[in-house]
Amino acid sequence: MLFLALLLEVIWILAADGGHHWTYEGPHGQDHWPASYPECGRDAQSPIDIQTDSVTFDPELPALQPHGYDQPGTEPLDLHNNGHTVQLSLPPTLYLSGLPGKYVAAQLHLHWGQKASPGGSEHQINSEATAAELHIVHYDSDSYESLSEAAPRPQGLAVLGVLIEVGDTENPAYEHILQHLHEIRHKGQKTSVPPFNVGELLPPQLEHFFRYNGSLTTPPCYQSVLWTVFSRRAQISAEQLERLQEALFSTEEEPSELLAQNFRSPKPLNQRVVLASFMPAASLYSTGEMLTIGVGILVGCLCLLLAVYFIVRKIRKKRLGNRKSVVFTSARSTAEA
Ligand SMILES: *[C@@H]1O[C@H](CO)[C@@H](O)[C@H](O)[C@H]1NC(C)=O
Repeated sequence: MLFLALLLEVIWILAADGGHHWTYEGPHGQDHWPASYPECGRDAQSPIDIQTDSVTFDPELPALQPHGYDQPGTEPLDLHNNGHTVQLSLPPTLYLSGLPGKYVAAQLHLHWGQKASPGGSEHQINSEATAAELHIVHYDSDSYESLSEAAPRPQGLAVLGVLIEVGDTENPAYEHILQHLHEIRHKGQKTSVPPFNVGELLPPQLEHFFRYNGSLTTPPCYQSVLWTVFSRRAQISAEQLERLQEALFSTEEEPSELLAQNFRSPKPLNQRVVLASFMPAASLYSTGEMLTIGVGILVGCLCLLLAVYFIVRKIRKKRLGNRKSVVFTSARSTAEA
């Protein structure tokens, strides 16, 4: 019995060290991913903290258009608890245009936090995280046969990132996923979901987005993702968020471990550029710049006033001087006379 327990322990350790076991916290947590998955330690990783005053407005960015999102066929879709997230399989009839090539959908999944704890999204905008984040994963079907073939290749994948915040009302689109979570509480469990309008998971105003080159946010962290992060957020109710945070386990059986806090912290931007399809208000001038500009204008006005004052004084002096010399000459002429 003891021998068996030891053997299981050894197998467990081997599996972990073989680079197959990873978590978000603890000895296999995100700081340790690069040891087993070297790509996770490279310099173009995701997610990132998007600073809107350092993005580059690109008026040439084509509009991003989802196709077939409103009716993903008639076949039920697989919903899977894979121990790291809840994942919905998507048929390749869903695809994106407005990217270099045709990217077809493969799956979508979520990242979230924990009850009574801030954060949950992977991407941040101006250092602000939201409660959760939706990722819709696509691959370049012009160049590759499958998601797994495309995943390690440069620009093989295109992922849509949707920041999710808490709003006042229940979001019926997210309910198509959330109402099935109790059927897949443990890792490895699967259920079927009737097809629904996946487009309704997206935020309003798809034309406002950020674009950058990054990676998968989970091991093996391949740097193959052309990211689109929408500026606007989707909203779910507090009750929906709570259900997401508490419904799932990251383990197959007892002891059950809650599947929560499955988000990676932002990685350095390094040499990369973040493009914006629009001019973010904050990217015009930051508060600091605004202050500098204000003070600049004030100082400028003061200088101008001073300059005008001195010029006027000089002119008046000159005029006075002229008048004096006139008086002087006339006085002299009188004396001569
Ligand atoms: C992403 O990388 C590709 C290839 O290096 C480059 O052509 C493209 O401009 C990059 N896109 C962005 C948004 O930086």
